[in-house]
Amino acid sequence: MSSEEEQTPLFTRSNHGASHWNRLKKSTMIIRAVIVFSILIGLTGGIWFLQSFLNSTDTIDFNPLEGYCSHILPIQPEEYATRHKKLAETLKKEGADALIMEGGATMVYYANIHWELTERAFMVILEVDENEPTGIHTTIVTPAFEASRAVESLKKARLPTEIQPEIREWLEHKSPFDTVKSVFEEKKVKRLIVEQDARLFIYQGVHDALQDTQVIMAPESIQMLRMVKSKSELDIMRCANTVTELAIRTVRPHITVGMTEFDIQKLMTNALHKAGLTNTWVLALVDENAALPHGSSSEKKVTDHSTVLIDTGGELLGYQSDTTRTFFMGKRGHNQTIEDAWYLVRRAQENVLNRAGAGTSCAQVDLTARHIIDKAGYGDAFRHRTGHGLGLEMHEKPYMNQGNVDQYLAPGMTFSVEPGIYILNEFGIRLEDAVVVGEDGKLELLTKGLAQNPWTL
Ligand SMILES: *[C@@H]1O[C@H](CO)[C@@H](O)[C@H](O)[C@H]1NC(C)=O
Repeated sequence: MSSEEEQTPLFTRSNHGASHWNRLKKSTMIIRAVIVFSILIGLTGGIWFLQSFLNSTDTIDFNPLEGYCSHILPIQPEEYATRHKKLAETLKKEGADALIMEGGATMVYYANIHWELTERAFMVILEVDENEPTGIHTTIVTPAFEASRAVESLKKARLPTEIQPEIREWLEHKSPFDTVKSVFEEKKVKRLIVEQDARLFIYQGVHDALQDTQVIMAPESIQMLRMVKSKSELDIMRCANTVTELAIRTVRPHITVGMTEFDIQKLMTNALHKAGLTNTWVLALVDENAALPHGSSSEKKVTDHSTVLIDTGGELLGYQSDTTRTFFMGKRGHNQTIEDAWYLVRRAQENVLNRAGAGTSCAQVDLTARHIIDKAGYGDAFRHRTGHGLGLEMHEKPYMNQGNVDQYLAPGMTFSVEPGIYILNEFGIRLEDAVVVGEDGKLELLTKGLAQNPWTL
């Protein structure tokens, strides 16, 4: 170390006074820049704050929605054991040895494993096995390189101790269906059931690998297991659907003249998120745009005499909500034709609630709503089925259409009741509430109540 360095410890890396001066100038400039920058940020922030303050979008009190469903418990581990026991009984009745499925709602239902479909087969096999406490032995067939992810998914699944899945891997250059075959080796397998949503190569692969085995698509009895909801499933669905309807009611007074469909969509999305729903979606359709039942939102603006349709939903603990409300802007004195149509749709909903129940065929449910609308001359304007099953999936069995004559309502089934009237280029009205067939056989709403009128909902 030189003595000079010792005398100027602060500037050990700069031997020259000039560069010291430069550094000072530089730091002053930096300070100035920081000040200017801060002022700019402050201004921008201020403008943003003012804007958001003036914009009603951000000042709505969504607090009543917050934590609305936070007391609802997810499906508990024990329930998966119950599901396996019921499946074992049903498989035996069907003379089947196992149910095979790939990623999707049924895999979530039985194994609580969420697996995205890819070109590589990932399957869960639920096999009747008297040695298992639930009567079902679970095998996971996974691509070998995904095995650790499979183990990870299994840990997250929090299955009860009675369910101890076995993991079998298949190598990239081998067939996953040889692995499926190895699961059944040495056992005489007469009949295998492939879940109805499995892709064709899964079905064909299983079919070809097990030559002497009958391979069939899941019959009604198997599909019924998912259609009939348990108490804990209903608790989740009731809260999800009630809070979705509440979210529409909360947003409703804040929809003002000049807003676009996109604006309404944004408001609703905020409300649903505040309510704790995920995977949310919103259809907001104004006036003639609502004549397309599955139209998409646009820049179309709300006027003081608009008819606004909001069809929306989201997910709570894996289960879906789906609710539609159509309402009028302005005060009384809406277009009479449209007002009459609204009350007609509402009566169609009521007719289903009053007349359908356990033992009613799905076809009859549809006709019960359709009858009211037909009689008023709008038969051709009610172009879709009256409803669809609702649960882990947004659309699932049972479907309420007049062709579904062999399917009957049973306690625990959940579905939407959503009649509508759609006049192309003029208007569209739909009201939708989810219901469950109660233990007493009557339909119960999974929302708080039907819309009372087209103004206040
Ligand atoms: C009311 O709406 C109907 C249906 O769109 C339309 O045909 C009719 O002209 C409207 N009436 C008035 C007074 O605007």
